Amino acid sequence: MIGFDKRDSFWLARSLGVCVALGMCILGIGRAAAQDVAAPPPPPWVAPDDAKKVKNPVPATQETLAAAEMLFQDNCVLCHGEKGMGDGPGAKTIKVKPANFTDPKLQATETDGGLFWKMSNGRGPMPAWKDELSDKERWELVNYIRKLGKDAKK
Ligand code: HEC
Repeated sequence: MIGFDKRDSFWLARSLGVCVALGMCILGIGRAAAQDVAAPPPPPWVAPDDAKKVKNPVPATQETLAAAEMLFQDNCVLCHGEKGMGDGPGAKTIKVKPANFTDPKLQATETDGGLFWKMSNGRGPMPAWKDELSDKERWELVNYIRKLGKDAKK
């Protein structure tokens, strides 16, 4: 009778072991697959100090903001979304998440000059706009990005 018990527990231990090994395997495959889908976030994007210091020469008036809103609708909403939350319809098709302009951290850490430099030069799926839009248009868009940040707080 004692011998039987021993064999029982041997089998129990063995099947448990197999289960654990299998489970770890499945988890491992799952994790590898998940990594393949969600690319790791890109390194922080930092504008050069010189560019950050440049002051915005375009005042934010009703006219310049209205002009910027049209530019934003035509060129940026696709990825950055209607309210600038980074949730435009095109955002789903690219691996890097478009910047969320309603993020208070983004608004606080980036200068006007930095935003201007980034939209001029682009990175990865973010297009470079310096040849598509004039300097004035890009500065207007900087003001509009600030407005999106303020609107989100209301
Ligand atoms: C095809 C999608 C796409 C379009 C269209 C697009 N963007 Fe972007 N944008 C991105 C992505 C993605 C990032 C993040 C890039 C990164 O971090 O590498 C980004 C980042 C930015 C940033 C940097 C924010 C920060 O401080 O990190 C600014 C500014 C910006 N976009 C402005 C614009 C403006 C203005 C337009 C329209 C004229 C525009 N973008 C159109 C995808 C897009």
